[in-house]
Amino acid sequence: MPPQRIQFPPDFLWGAATAAYQIEGATRVDGRGVSIWDTFCGRPGVIEEGASGEPACRHYERWAEDVDLMAELGLKSYRMSVAWPRILPEGRGEVNAKGLDFYERLIDRLLAKGILPNVTLYHWDLPQALEDRGGWASRDTAYAFAEYADQVLKRLGDRPLMWATFNEPLCVANAGYGNGSHAPGRTVDPKTLNQVIHHILLAHGLGVRAIRARSAQAKAGIVIVPVVPYPYGPGPEDGQAAEDHWQAENDWWLLPLLKGAYPRRIWDLKGKDAPEVVPGDMESIAAPLDWLGVNFYFPTRVRPGSSPLKPQAVSPAGVETTAMPGWEIYPPIAERVLTEFTRRYPKIPLYVTENGAAFEDPVPDAQGRIRDPRRLAYIRDHLASARRAMDQGVDLRGWYVWSLMDNFEWRFGYGKRFGVVHVDYASFERRIKDSGRWYREVIRDGGFELPGA
Ligand code: FCB
Repeated sequence: MPPQRIQFPPDFLWGAATAAYQIEGATRVDGRGVSIWDTFCGRPGVIEEGASGEPACRHYERWAEDVDLMAELGLKSYRMSVAWPRILPEGRGEVNAKGLDFYERLIDRLLAKGILPNVTLYHWDLPQALEDRGGWASRDTAYAFAEYADQVLKRLGDRPLMWATFNEPLCVANAGYGNGSHAPGRTVDPKTLNQVIHHILLAHGLGVRAIRARSAQAKAGIVIVPVVPYPYGPGPEDGQAAEDHWQAENDWWLLPLLKGAYPRRIWDLKGKDAPEVVPGDMESIAAPLDWLGVNFYFPTRVRPGSSPLKPQAVSPAGVETTAMPGWEIYPPIAERVLTEFTRRYPKIPLYVTENGAAFEDPVPDAQGRIRDPRRLAYIRDHLASARRAMDQGVDLRGWYVWSLMDNFEWRFGYGKRFGVVHVDYASFERRIKDSGRWYREVIRDGGFELPGA
């Protein structure tokens, strides 16, 4: 195949993403309260090398320099998150003005540079005080979230921003409360897990209501991480397992959000484990949205498991992966996810809110360049796949690389580098990698050349 030009619409929203706990540091500064990630990282043995979000990238001090870096890359939008414990150190009640001041400065600087802030309210850092009162297993946390959204929007709602209530609610529930691999590290029973999911959905709906009440200009959405199941083998059983997995994990979140109802078949399969739903909840959950964010990194190959709700995930031997264990590289996931979303769910503008890859980076060469061809190829090939989805009518409006810079990768600590900008964790110096230089050209030109095979 000859090289191929991959071109995006002129108004395509090119961006990069981060999250508060992964980059800010300054966890005990300016009145910030304790989050569940601070606590979780303090448990021996859970995070590689005993790392934590302190000092992360010291973004709390270096934010202005980081905005300059974004401008240098030519970003049209920056996806970031607000740390709830900076705003309400105890989760509810007393507001910490210094926390709001920080985000106001940052957001206004972004706007001044012509970079649209896309702000996530919950990227996993629940105030510990709320976890102590039950966390997402408690319905009260949904109301606390609405109060928090209200406080943030009260200060910032007069700016024309994109807002997301949650980042990857599936991970909040499944990793935080299901298998315990993320904070708060709980392993609850299936009924409680479904209740956790329901409370997060409710919090989202109440959050959207709070956003709308405070801001006529806000564009409100949510960021979903779908599972991307493929049949492991050619047989129809594996095909059915893949479909079941899609319904049980993706429809379970998206049909309440976009249609106001849990999927009937999955509800019935859950039986007594289905959540308690209070009248009015589903209407709140389905509050109309302006956009939907989708994150994807790797496919899951499945075979039938113990029930349609529990397919067996199989890691095929010999496939190429990133530095993340088991994260297979398979760029067609972009086209697949985007076309499936368009086919299965009500029409809504889509954004890819995260896609990117961790690889070991070489040390800077004599010219100071960090050559990361595999990261570049990963981003390029997923973008090309997404473009194919657009050719089929998918309403994709923008793309955010994960991540703007290397950062604290949750339980993997600092060993996994996702940045298109390198962070030296001794000097905290930032340096644009080859992938970042390439991305800057893509943004400038609105597209790129896909090399021939
Ligand atoms: C996503 C998270 C993000 C980052 C990437 C690698 O699941 O939203 O914070 O850790 O994975």
